[in-house]
Amino acid sequence: MSSGGIVVAIDGPAASGKGTLARNLASHFGFHHLDTGLTYRAVAKALLDGGLPLDDEALAEQTACSIDLSNLDRSVLATHHVGEAASKVAVMPAVRRALVEAQRNFAQRRPGAILDGRDIGTVVCPDADVKFFVTANAAVRARRRYEEIVGSGTAVDLGEIEEDLARRDARDSLRADSPLIPATDAHLLDTSEMDIETAFLEAKRRIETAMAEKDGN
Ligand code: C5P
Repeated sequence: MSSGGIVVAIDGPAASGKGTLARNLASHFGFHHLDTGLTYRAVAKALLDGGLPLDDEALAEQTACSIDLSNLDRSVLATHHVGEAASKVAVMPAVRRALVEAQRNFAQRRPGAILDGRDIGTVVCPDADVKFFVTANAAVRARRRYEEIVGSGTAVDLGEIEEDLARRDARDSLRADSPLIPATDAHLLDTSEMDIETAFLEAKRRIETAMAEKDGN
């Protein structure tokens, strides 16, 4: 149990629905929300914008140290291209160290903080009060990402999205530092069949239970 407010950790692969779930829960409980993927995306975008290499660890670390969590603009960071670059900078331990420190500070916020990412329950907040691991099968996730991109008015090929996601899953799951794996004490939510409302109600119930337990201590 953490000593600050309630801490909720939500992990899962790209397009699993974890971001929507985290946002909806934060809004329901009045908790602070940090999409930690945006922090990796911000590092990647800064390097891309500067025409700098994505594999220079010292440079990427320096960039990571300058990231301002209060200034993460989803509208410019959300692109598929930046996500792909983010998963490259995310394999570097020095980048992760810098960002994890900022993420841990965020997690102290009261009355509660919800962080979503890949390593929240395992590395960033191993003592989180509640942990979820949100998954969906690869076909469902690719279809979701495809509809999101087409919905924003951009033409894209479904096969290409499937390949991109498979590549990103492999990079995130097989890296040596903080790979994507469920924490042993995470509640699994498979959104392949479950709609977002059902996942929300299940997660909300678990958080309410954790809050009642914390109050009783
Ligand atoms: O979640 P999102 O797709 O925005 O994340 C972009 C990339 O950032 C991921 O593919 C992953 O490589 C990296 N990431 C990470 N650890 C986190 C959050 C994101 O390594 N906690």
